[in-house]
Amino acid sequence: MQDSKMAIENRTVEVLDDKSALIQRSQDLILSRLQTAIDSRGQFTMALAGGSTPKPLYEALSTLSLPWSKIHIFWGDERYVPATDQDSNQLMARQALLDKIEIPASNIHPMDASSADPAIDAQKHEAELRSFFQLETGFPVLDLILLGMGDDGHTASLFPHTEALMVRDRLITVGNKDGQPRLTFTVPLINQARCVLFIVAGANKRAALKQIFAAQADETHYPARLIQPQGELLWLLDRAAAEEL
Ligand code: 6PG
Repeated sequence: MQDSKMAIENRTVEVLDDKSALIQRSQDLILSRLQTAIDSRGQFTMALAGGSTPKPLYEALSTLSLPWSKIHIFWGDERYVPATDQDSNQLMARQALLDKIEIPASNIHPMDASSADPAIDAQKHEAELRSFFQLETGFPVLDLILLGMGDDGHTASLFPHTEALMVRDRLITVGNKDGQPRLTFTVPLINQARCVLFIVAGANKRAALKQIFAAQADETHYPARLIQPQGELLWLLDRAAAEEL
């Protein structure tokens, strides 16, 4: 794939002193987008990120009195494990947030990894999204998609040099991490969002961030470069991660 010039028109990068400041800022940004969405459309649709960075954010959100009946929770990706597995992104979010708040079960839309065939589960989740957004074709617009970034530049379960990066005609596809299947939002689905919010912390992310923000770099090697939404693109970095930018 061609090197890409990073579209920077709608990208905002904020560097916070430390991870706790980053979590506080990400909470503030989410709350403001949540209020705007509910004021204008009566609901807020948000996809959660997996991994470890967002867990304190979810714990912080669980302490707030929010209109949870108007908030719908999705996931940008999921490991291909049962929802009870310690690796499950769904389990982490339930333990950190969803089990602690009054949110209708029907507002929670996990990626189900139970058919033993990831491609079938990807199709199932795609059908669920299309039904929820009442959209037979095209790409639904989520209000906010929260993303992390791995130290290899992956995001969601869009890993370097994998087929998932090329999928442009589906909402959900099968990712591949070192031969292990994942379920993931596709690049076009993520790029349809009103707001994409990256939260990236730690010195181990420096090298990849340099490539993500470079004027030119190989998108297949650094998949987070592919995330160039038509809506807002917000990057929240802690100082440790942003050191070399
Ligand atoms: C996952 C995530 C993944 C994660 C990055 C960063 O399922 O693991 O969706 O994309 O966001 O790997 O993970 P950390 O926040 O743990 O560094």
